[in-house]
Amino acid sequence: MRNFKYSWEEYQKLPISKKKKLLIRNSELSYLIFAQQFERKVLEKLFTLADKIRFLSKSKEGADKLQTLLSHKRATLFFSQPSTRTFKSFYNACHILGIKTTELRDGASSSQKKGESPEDTILTFASYTDLIIMRNNEEWLAEKASWLLNKKNRVVKVINAGSGKDQHPTQALLDAYTLHQAFSKAKSGKKTIVIAGDLKRGRAARSLIYILKNFKDVKLLLISPEPLKIENDVRKFLLKNYIEFIETDKFKENLKKADVIYMTRIQDEYDVSNESKEIDYSTFHLKKSYLKLIKKDAVIMHPLPRRDEVDIEIDDDERAWYWKQERNGMWARASLIAYMFGIENDIMKINF
Ligand code: NCD
Repeated sequence: MRNFKYSWEEYQKLPISKKKKLLIRNSELSYLIFAQQFERKVLEKLFTLADKIRFLSKSKEGADKLQTLLSHKRATLFFSQPSTRTFKSFYNACHILGIKTTELRDGASSSQKKGESPEDTILTFASYTDLIIMRNNEEWLAEKASWLLNKKNRVVKVINAGSGKDQHPTQALLDAYTLHQAFSKAKSGKKTIVIAGDLKRGRAARSLIYILKNFKDVKLLLISPEPLKIENDVRKFLLKNYIEFIETDKFKENLKKADVIYMTRIQDEYDVSNESKEIDYSTFHLKKSYLKLIKKDAVIMHPLPRRDEVDIEIDDDERAWYWKQERNGMWARASLIAYMFGIENDIMKINF
């Protein structure tokens, strides 16, 4: 009988290196909670697997074959925060692999309305399904779900699809997959990645920074209005991992240096007292007229949804990669799920 001895309070205090080990069970990645869990070797596997799943899905024969692989598995999509592409891409990623899905998107339609704790709701999902994919306002909930199921020795996997303003590891995965595609077409040499916007509360930006430790030869230009600069823990991470970075609030002036421009929207849903209204975000707007300033082979990304950070007219420019990036989300997520259920070799062996 395995002995998982940590109380929730003890568990939270563990260093990330220790947690990473506990999130793997029987040599399988059981819980994907934070972007620091991704290592270069696993990322390479996931990218190759995503390419293969995408290729197989193009033919009926390939798609049918993929759908047999996890047809005995069921997933719950527990999304209590708004979501369009993360929800849809996970939903379809499950179906690509034959996983049946149920969903809970509105706490008001569940027993949480009757006073049930989120922990009990999670245990209930675990009673019926093999995988819980969750997006919630509470930064701690996905991690707590993994702790709870681990402690109770329940063989149910958990994927964090966005934990408040803290982390969005699968967005980081699809961003890394998109960067990998962009860089494999580009000339070699150091790449400058601009990450612009709300870097304080943007979980996509935070998780992207964490996953970028796996990319050699990159330099980060972190551009944000002063009140929305990265938090200290992220700064410490960059220093500790020897990632070259500069922080500035000058957006337009720095565009010419960028090989990648990663735009983000202001995360005003996390305002405590309407503070976003006081911030001048208007200069963090990629205008069509700026296209002439940026490199011919630069890549423009955005986790979406956008407001007005990127002019719609830019969509037609071949440097606009955000729709491709969005499509990559489904393949990257299917790849991650396949990997977590240990079927990557079965997929790689399929030949037509
Ligand atoms: C992001 C998110 O929810 O954090 N969106 C997404 O998942 N594609 C970014 C955002 O909402 O700004």
